[in-house]
Amino acid sequence: MYINIKINIMKKFFLTALASLAVITCMGQHAYMAGKGVAVFYPANYDASAHSPSPIFERELYPIGEVPSDWRIRPVYSQSDKEQVVTLHVGEDVDLYGGGEVWGSLRRNGKTIEFWNMDNPYYSVDNGTHLYQSHPWVMGLRPDGSAFGIIADNTWRGKMTSDSDVVFTSVGPAFRVVVIEKESPQALMQALVDLTGNMELPPMWALGYQQCRFSYYPDTRVKEIADTLRYHKIPSDVIWMDIHYMDKFKIFTFDPKGFSNPKALNDYLHSKNFKSVYMIDPGVKVEKGYWLDDEGTAKDYWVRKADGEHYIGKVWPGPCHFPDFTRPEVRTWWSTLYIPFMAQGIDGVWNDMNEPAIGDGPEVSMPKDNIHRGGEGMAQGPHLRFHNVYGFNMVRASRDGLLLANPNKRPFVLSRSNFLGGHRYAATWTGDNYSSWEQFEASVPMSLTLGLSGQPFNGPDIGGFVSSTNANLLAHWTALGVYFPFVRNHTTENSVAQEPWAFDKQTLDICRTAINRRYRLMPYIYTLFEEASVNGMPVMRPAFMLDAKNPDFRTEEKAFMLGGDLYIIPRWAPEVAVPEGNWNILKLEDEDDGVQPYLAQRPGSIIPMANLYQNTTELRTDSLTLLVNPDAEGKATGVLYEDARDGFEYRDGQYVRYELKAETTCKQITVSISKMEGKQDAQPRMLRIGYVTDNKVTYSPWTSGESVSMKVVKDKTNTLDLKKLTFVTIDKK
Ligand code: NOJ
Repeated sequence: MYINIKINIMKKFFLTALASLAVITCMGQHAYMAGKGVAVFYPANYDASAHSPSPIFERELYPIGEVPSDWRIRPVYSQSDKEQVVTLHVGEDVDLYGGGEVWGSLRRNGKTIEFWNMDNPYYSVDNGTHLYQSHPWVMGLRPDGSAFGIIADNTWRGKMTSDSDVVFTSVGPAFRVVVIEKESPQALMQALVDLTGNMELPPMWALGYQQCRFSYYPDTRVKEIADTLRYHKIPSDVIWMDIHYMDKFKIFTFDPKGFSNPKALNDYLHSKNFKSVYMIDPGVKVEKGYWLDDEGTAKDYWVRKADGEHYIGKVWPGPCHFPDFTRPEVRTWWSTLYIPFMAQGIDGVWNDMNEPAIGDGPEVSMPKDNIHRGGEGMAQGPHLRFHNVYGFNMVRASRDGLLLANPNKRPFVLSRSNFLGGHRYAATWTGDNYSSWEQFEASVPMSLTLGLSGQPFNGPDIGGFVSSTNANLLAHWTALGVYFPFVRNHTTENSVAQEPWAFDKQTLDICRTAINRRYRLMPYIYTLFEEASVNGMPVMRPAFMLDAKNPDFRTEEKAFMLGGDLYIIPRWAPEVAVPEGNWNILKLEDEDDGVQPYLAQRPGSIIPMANLYQNTTELRTDSLTLLVNPDAEGKATGVLYEDARDGFEYRDGQYVRYELKAETTCKQITVSISKMEGKQDAQPRMLRIGYVTDNKVTYSPWTSGESVSMKVVKDKTNTLDLKKLTFVTIDKK
């Protein structure tokens, strides 16, 4: 593994050197095509040493040809005393999206955001115009459904205004801009991952329901939470350890009283089929005799002040040093710290406070003239340049650390801060939201926007973090939240309990039904994650992905798609945009609790669904229901991807991808496998059809084998009619 890392480092260094050479040899404002529909524009005064290597791109960009003369979107570079300005005229008739982790509407026309990562509790500072992450990326949809994307390859502090002119400003040196032109938003997503790299397939357990709070303490309380989840039959996979598991908030230590035997705790959790995720912050408590601080100081691994002294700032443990993650040797050191840590039976890591958030620093972070020393082709530079990628470089090292510790397991890292391209290393959540109806509703466009910005694996704190939630809010948030990519209930210190059972039986039942639904849909959801890891299509998608030409979908930010086949309509959103055609509501329970959202299934689709089980370790797909909503010709198709759910054997072909098809002849529908790919043996299983028609599901008897048939009657419903559904009026308090 060490050798692998070294080879990668050398490869990267070589490519970076080549790239810098390419730039130096063609000075002056210039541009080239770096791929089909991908143009790169450089300002005249471009200084590669101030930007290179780019964190955004997986590989350096190389010229493959000239930019055609009819290329539509071109940057105009200018500068004032204080800023570099890049203006790109995109037109009046476009709808703009993206910008990463943003607060506010899905459609971004007329919005300005700042690129300056910040610990921004409930998005309250500066009207939420900059949050924990920066994604200098905007995408646009034209009336004809074609799409474009713009990347500002710049980590220095800056801003982006998206309108008929997209304007980037930056206080750093002039930077290059990449413009992508594609025929559809789907093709644009593919182009974005072709440039920025793929999200690696997560372990399946990370897609399950996760329970957290700040903090479960001591270890007996953690066990109690795990036992109570099982007692109430709430399917769940992960319990999270927030900072109180540490000894005086010192990272890579355990509280000798409350968490005296972490290995035993993790063994206990594992025995109940739970995984454990533990928090690691970047700040290292300044304390003589604390091995980590002594080691980092002796090796001179900390970020420096402008005067060369090690910088010290306050976080949870008090005064802290901060690893300089721009340095390859520091990242390698940081990675190795995870070897003994993960050996305690820890399954995943939560990197928090990595904007970095510093209580006594300017704008809750480090002084902008602090020094990061770089290396591996990256020049030394001020914090102003490296602030936005502090978290990015940290999680890069963390991910390597998890791989060092457990080379045969897929690493799971959750990070609060990150940068465009950081999906390669970590999943994310949307930081410290508020337990309010407003922030619950806002979580939909936030997560959609992150997905459109290359980060498919994301979600909010379900129930809300800051302040105390209430039964109604928790019920609705859980009911909708289970269709987000990342599903974790989390709340702050001293708030009321927020577990599904914390209020009343009704809330518990609603939460359980919702989570049951997620687990039953796991074969479909896992298939979507695999798809995202290949073609960059978000797991959670805006409605406009259904029909990029339909203007009605362009502002839809309440209803959303889970993959391509399920349209999720919240029960409090009676006026959402409705797709045409014979969409049918999946009625999965006999009783309607009035809170579960409507799941409308696309005509012509097959969705694989499992029987109920309590965690992803127990998930068995030897009995599968194939939910079929045939199109007007009685046909449907679907995909099911399966592998070992963890580990890397799938990379050597140890997986199986079924393409399923349904056909109707003589009032009989038959679902069979039209194609199989991968080396994993197909398992014998029981199948049944769940025929989705007239807003209900009719099940065939179970059959063994590779195809299944049932008699059907013609669908009576022709379109999805919101008037036939019942919605609720919410007391938004
Ligand atoms: C801030 C994080 O956003 C929150 O989720 C966490 O609980 C606290 N830090 C304490 O670690």
